[in-house]
Amino acid sequence: MRSVAGAGVVVTGAGSGIGAALARRFAAEGARVVVNDLDAGAAARVAQACGGTAAPGDAASADGVAALLATATGVLGEIDLFCANAGVARGDGEGSEDDWEASWQVNVMAHVRAARLLLPGWLGRGSGHLICTVSAAGLLTMLGAAPYSATKHAALGFAEWLAATYAHRGITVQALCPMGVRTPMLSGISPAAELILGPTAITTDEVADAVIAGIAEGGFLILPHPDVARMYAGRATDTDRWLRGMNKLQTQTETAV
Ligand SMILES: NC(=O)c1ccc[n+]([C@@H]2O[C@H](COP(=O)([O-])OP(=O)(O)OC[C@H]3O[C@@H](n4cnc5c(N)ncnc54)[C@H](O)[C@@H]3O)[C@@H](O)[C@H]2O)c1
Repeated sequence: MRSVAGAGVVVTGAGSGIGAALARRFAAEGARVVVNDLDAGAAARVAQACGGTAAPGDAASADGVAALLATATGVLGEIDLFCANAGVARGDGEGSEDDWEASWQVNVMAHVRAARLLLPGWLGRGSGHLICTVSAAGLLTMLGAAPYSATKHAALGFAEWLAATYAHRGITVQALCPMGVRTPMLSGISPAAELILGPTAITTDEVADAVIAGIAEGGFLILPHPDVARMYAGRATDTDRWLRGMNKLQTQTETAV
């Protein structure tokens, strides 16, 4: 799919932030949009504003994903594009057991469960499009937030695996990897996050612009902050230098926050 016009689209976590901007933009481009969020009121408000259909509920649990897909299929007929966007930023530093569990369920297993249920139909018809909202933290790291960083790496790994496995069967998988975006989440990650990401933070509408351009181009990585490609290359080619740079940033945030 190179354009969302006329497509049946589901966006999870679309009651706020990036997901809400994606739902609005997709609807403006002519898509039929199902707006999911745990927060039923927020899902209803976004759906009403963009002429979509609200499908409140948990987009991470096995039962929640199954219910969302059943509702969305009833509304849309076919789901052409599924945006696994809901995410949580839980836990400072190494995080607690609960932080890891919540992060694993929402940031990773939500994508796995959606893909498992979507793939049989998509493979049967020879087309389907999944966009996983990962993060630059999945390509690099997020200082101050280990559960977030590690689960975003896992989400990237799963998306890569899907792309490598199913591209020849008509399945498109893309990973949306922004750095800081002005949403309620940004201020909640860690004091270091605002310090590091704040100066280059972009708006949710700029992320939606990048997603529309990314869908048209079809590349695996959608990078609303183009500099991330350079940093990702630096991490791969000289990992020790990259880690020294990250540790320097860590010491700077320790003195600043
Ligand atoms: N804001 C940033 O700087 C930034 C940067 C990179 C990636 N991201 C990623 O973008 C995605 C969206 O984040 P955002 O910044 O818009 O955050 P946000 O907090 O504004 O919105 C996230 C929404 O997801 C919903 N949600 C959480 N768990 C859910 C679940 N289990 N089922 C359904 N809905 C659920 C929340 O209710 C909320 O409305 C996340 O995956 C996040 O990790 C954010």
